Amino acid sequence: MTNNRIKRGSEVKKVALGISGGIAAYKAAEVLRGLQRAGCSVRVAMTKRACEFIQPLTFRTLSGSHVIVDDYAPDNPDPIAHITFSQTVDLLVVAPATANIIAKFANGVADDFLTSTYLASTAPVLIAPAMNPTMWGHPATQRNLSQLRNDGVRIVEPDAGEMACGTIGPGRLNDPERIVAAALELLDQGGMVQDLAGERLLITTGATREELDPVRFISNRSSGRMGFAVAEAALSRGAEVSVVAGATSVNSPYGVRVARVLSADEMHEAVMKELPKATVFISAAAVADYRPAQRAATKIKKGGSSLVLTLERTRDILGEVASARTNGLLVIGFAAETNDVLINAQEKLRAKNLDAIVANDVARVDAGFDSTENAITIVARDAQGPLEFPLMSKLEAAHRILDEIVRLRATSKTSADASASARQTEPK
Ligand code: CTP
Repeated sequence: MTNNRIKRGSEVKKVALGISGGIAAYKAAEVLRGLQRAGCSVRVAMTKRACEFIQPLTFRTLSGSHVIVDDYAPDNPDPIAHITFSQTVDLLVVAPATANIIAKFANGVADDFLTSTYLASTAPVLIAPAMNPTMWGHPATQRNLSQLRNDGVRIVEPDAGEMACGTIGPGRLNDPERIVAAALELLDQGGMVQDLAGERLLITTGATREELDPVRFISNRSSGRMGFAVAEAALSRGAEVSVVAGATSVNSPYGVRVARVLSADEMHEAVMKELPKATVFISAAAVADYRPAQRAATKIKKGGSSLVLTLERTRDILGEVASARTNGLLVIGFAAETNDVLINAQEKLRAKNLDAIVANDVARVDAGFDSTENAITIVARDAQGPLEFPLMSKLEAAHRILDEIVRLRATSKTSADASASARQTEPK
């Protein structure tokens, strides 16, 4: 899907790919290939340390042009490359971005070619950090990321997982495909259109956990990826974003306010607390429909050959939000289905009185729960028919959902204006 986007009706987009010195530097080759497959022309700049991990020759071969490391080097064909290079590109992507390069960008340090290029460029910038989890979590790094976000830099958050150094945690470079998808989004829009400025999104995501006793719980396979992708996409389009997250296996994007909960009850409470500030509610969480009627205070011991559990209904958070809505709140639900996906989704849209519902088939192995991709269908209350999208990254799917929210907002404004002018012209 993304492959033809950049070529369509426009000249070839020029991307500068910056590579800084981390073990993930070799993955930059996949980012380069992905950008090329999408029709972009890519030139590469590397830091000296990056060259310790992978040779510039790899990128010269793949990109077909000179890789700039040091613009003072005698073999550099352009003596003011940091100016010409930076001012002729449509996008600067830095992958991997180390803690050091992030610190330099955040503070305007320009002591090598890549950092000078960053300062001299007016193009949108996308960085994909990769580092040890302790370095990632350090307040200095988080402060620098916050500064970069304020400066308009788009960040593709690292994944959590096993690192080359053996530690486990957030800091691993995100999937090259996801980095490419984020880059294409930026290029498509010539920088992110701030079409959600003024909107305050409240998003639920992840799975709830309903405890049976201090060691056991009932839960589901939701990873929380989809809700966080919506949060990340909305943030880049100018919205303020709050997330109420249940159990998740992914990191929250930087800049998003997150309230952590576990049970459906706690999620209900957190949502109701945040709701008065929201203008859009998106319910991406996989909330338990039933919880154990009783939670044992101590670990349940095994007894006979079977154990019967009594479950009771939880509150339907989405249903309650939709039925109590005021002030033009837009309410969007999700329908995770294994069969009759569209029929079930349409029924939920109607029964819960939603503005739109995002349906996905969680029986597919290539999409849905815990996958980085999703194939969604959006059904809006006022649309002629469902909008069916092919398999795409969850970030791209998030943007398609947000496009629909922008459309719904425009429609609701138009009908509010029309009824206000009708009231004015009514005979008194
Ligand atoms: N939802 C919710 N609170 C619940 C259950 C579901 O807010 N207690 C929300 C989910 O976040 C999702 C939507 O309702 O946006 C649909 O959830 P789903 O579990 O698919 O549907 P249910 O209404 O629970 O119906 P069923 O399980 O019978 O399919």
